[in-house]
Amino acid sequence: MPSQSYGRICLVVAFCLVVLLYVLKFQHDSYHEEVFTFTKQYFRSSNALADGIDNGTLGFQKIFVINAPWRTDRKDSISLAASYSGVTLDWIDGIEAESIREKAYPPGYHREISDGNRGSWRAHMNALRAIIQQNLTTALILEDDADWDFRIRSQLSDFSHGARRLPDLVTQSGLHSRKPSNPSLEKLSQAELAKHSSISYSSIPRSISKEDPYGRDWNVLWLGHCGAHLPPPSPNKPNRIVIANDETVPEPQYLKSMPRADLDQIGSVYPPHTRIIHQANQTVCTIAYAVTQSGARRLLYEFGIREFNKGYDFALSDYCSGLTKGATKETMPLCITVQPPIFSHHFPLKMTSDITGHGAGYVAVVETRYVRWSVRMNLERLVKGEEGVVEQWPDTKPEP
Ligand SMILES: *[C@@H]1O[C@H](CO)[C@@H](O)[C@H](O)[C@H]1NC(C)=O
Ligand SMILES: *[C@@H]1O[C@H](CO)[C@@H](O)[C@H](O)[C@H]1NC(C)=O
Ligand SMILES: *[C@@H]1O[C@H](CO)[C@@H](O)[C@H](O)[C@H]1NC(C)=O
Repeated sequence: MPSQSYGRICLVVAFCLVVLLYVLKFQHDSYHEEVFTFTKQYFRSSNALADGIDNGTLGFQKIFVINAPWRTDRKDSISLAASYSGVTLDWIDGIEAESIREKAYPPGYHREISDGNRGSWRAHMNALRAIIQQNLTTALILEDDADWDFRIRSQLSDFSHGARRLPDLVTQSGLHSRKPSNPSLEKLSQAELAKHSSISYSSIPRSISKEDPYGRDWNVLWLGHCGAHLPPPSPNKPNRIVIANDETVPEPQYLKSMPRADLDQIGSVYPPHTRIIHQANQTVCTIAYAVTQSGARRLLYEFGIREFNKGYDFALSDYCSGLTKGATKETMPLCITVQPPIFSHHFPLKMTSDITGHGAGYVAVVETRYVRWSVRMNLERLVKGEEGVVEQWPDTKPEP
């Protein structure tokens, strides 16, 4: 009977399909396993584990990402990067400037600020407000084009010890800077001044505080930026912490925030592969920054209530540098930054920024400055389960 043999054929086809699906699924699972054994060795770090930085929020209480609902492309990309890094994200919606009522602006010249910058300001304020409402002790705020290295946990673990030591260094050098300067120091070269103004990371006592891996004696940890100035040299009372021979730092010829920008000063005054932790002074781009609860409160008061006069990243830069109206040495916030930065903008193939400024729009290359083993640059390899890692800024000569 034709209908019976037809039914048998259907059965056979269905059986074959099921077998095929099983085979594919099995291959896929083992694929997955492989990728994770490969990436895990970098994403996990024994130091980070000991320091309490190993968890899904990198030792902060939460990680918020600012993402405009109409930029689903960016949400897809950062979600994928986070999934391969074992990072858990919370979302803060980006805001369209037109949706903000005139009455809702704090005093200041908001009309002179571009739409993109006004929307960005409001989204950052909402992030700070969420941190306050949820009473978080610390939180990291990321913009949705942030990128990082596979070795983020070991980088942050090193940074965390610096973040706990720096507040005291800054206080000591601040007290000292009021004393008259020593003329013999004026003859020192820039590199010698830098050396004398720094202490070595390896000399910091490594006390562990799992509940507060980064401490809380600061307001802002400015972890992702596109340019920072070193603080004034302080050769008698060092004000910087140096992490020497950090293999995640590119060679000096790569250290610049934009392809056509000038080289960063740190590359010329410190040996290659050095990372510096210091007080933020004229730092630009709010790609990634952490705040404490008190930091969030101060920032929301400052920019959400007291005054809104310029793009948020410039305003935060002024605030951290003590240039805001009414700032005094006593009320100075403490913002700690790191050079080269740990987070950086990823410029994808199709470069379009919703905010103008910082040379956005001029970048035609696909890259993430400062990040050697960029997760975003490796997404394709990761999803395909390929071995190895694409290095963006390889050393020119082999390591000795
Ligand atoms: C990660 O660790 C920090 C610091 O101990 C803690 O505050 C936070 O709640 C932890 N996050 C998760 C998701 O466990
Ligand atoms: C907020 O958190 C702090 C420390 O984590 C705690 O001491 C305080 O009681 C909390 N406040 C509220 C209102 O829950
Ligand atoms: C920031 O840099 C300027 C110029 O070098 C300096 O005058 C000022 O004291 C610095 N501020 C801080 C907080 O280091």
